[in-house]
Amino acid sequence: NSNVTSVKLVLLGEAAVGKSSIVLRFVSNDFSENKEPTIGAAFLTQRVNIGNHTIKFEIWDTAGQERFASLAPMYYRNAQAALVVYDVTKPQSFIKARHWVKELQEQANKGIIIALVGNKADIIEDGEERKVAREEAEKLAEEEGLLFFETSAKTGNNVNETFLAIGEKIPLK
Ligand code: GTP
Ligand code: MG
Repeated sequence: NSNVTSVKLVLLGEAAVGKSSIVLRFVSNDFSENKEPTIGAAFLTQRVNIGNHTIKFEIWDTAGQERFASLAPMYYRNAQAALVVYDVTKPQSFIKARHWVKELQEQANKGIIIALVGNKADIIEDGEERKVAREEAEKLAEEEGLLFFETSAKTGNNVNETFLAIGEKIPLK
């Protein structure tokens, strides 16, 4: 198909925020309660249709554990899009997300499309106290020109929407 646009996308964020779970939901519409930590990185693809165009996401799902931190630049270097993921119940993961946004803006492609993603929103709905205010994340997104979504890989809420919003910002060939 001549209307397929490939988009290299990288996921970054602290360990256990749910990067691999977001990808599993997006690619296979599935969820696992005890997903293994990613070692190094994983590569997956998924296509979405936007109008009469197809976007093929080539997804690099990086490992959040500190011992893999030095690998990240290899994966974001040529990326056209990034998901910077934090856990809405873990303030430290939001601080880490701020650092990733800054690093991408300094080191990645000019014009990279970045989505800030607050994952595990389902836990808040279950009554546990939210630890990262929606307003705080919205403010960062506004100031830095990021897309912003709160998602749940567990329920699937806003996962497809996040990728679609990125797809809609990709210049078509
Ligand atoms: P690393 O690969 O180590 O960087 O972790 P990761 O960011 O890929 O996290 P992963 O997807 O492995 O998820 C970590 C844990 O959080 C797993 O036990 C998941 O089941 C759980 N999890 C992921 N997303 C959600 C979510 O949206 N809601 C809830 N309740 N749990 C989630
Ligand atoms: Mg992972």
